[in-house]
Amino acid sequence: MAILKIARMGNPVLRAPARPVADPTAPAIRALVSDMVETMLDAGGVGLAAPQVRVPLRLVIFQLPPERLVAQDSTDGADADIEGDPEGDADGAPADAEHLPLHVLINPVITPVGEDTALGWEGCLSLPRMRGLVPRHTYIRYSGIGLDGKPFEREARGFHARVVQHECDHLDGILYPMRMTDLSLLGYNDEWARAPLEIAADAPGDAEAAE
Ligand code: NI
Repeated sequence: MAILKIARMGNPVLRAPARPVADPTAPAIRALVSDMVETMLDAGGVGLAAPQVRVPLRLVIFQLPPERLVAQDSTDGADADIEGDPEGDADGAPADAEHLPLHVLINPVITPVGEDTALGWEGCLSLPRMRGLVPRHTYIRYSGIGLDGKPFEREARGFHARVVQHECDHLDGILYPMRMTDLSLLGYNDEWARAPLEIAADAPGDAEAAE
């Protein structure tokens, strides 16, 4: 196990589409996932994609508190921070993150269910100390292959759906600001902390459904 260096915005590996994993059960993939878990926990994130550790393969990992994993309509506040930030607010990964179930998604495919989108806060370990309000599908179906080599399919709503969309975007060279429709809603964590942004009433998108 090793803590890997995280590529930041501007690194070419974050712009290029990643390659499919040929053999999800290969020992090298298991070792990569081990290192990614250690790296994610060290950085205080809830998710990490292989290109972020400079490995251009279609593999992501994430951890969610159990109450956020179920396919539910999210009623969470606007404080969902996708990858957290070690120097940011306290709402990244929970303190007991190492005890949460780990999700490994290899060669994932996302299909939105319905047209609904919502704004929600996202941070990214590749853009340290920043966060922005990003529109995402509120309800998705996704499929992929697990570390055991078995294909699976799941449904996700709310924060779970947001995390999967954020992480899988990394596999196509997309960072969350590229999904934003209003870049005035992108900023530094400490500025947002100083002047909290009220998004409920007048934000673009469906404010009622904002996460
Ligand atoms: Ni990210």
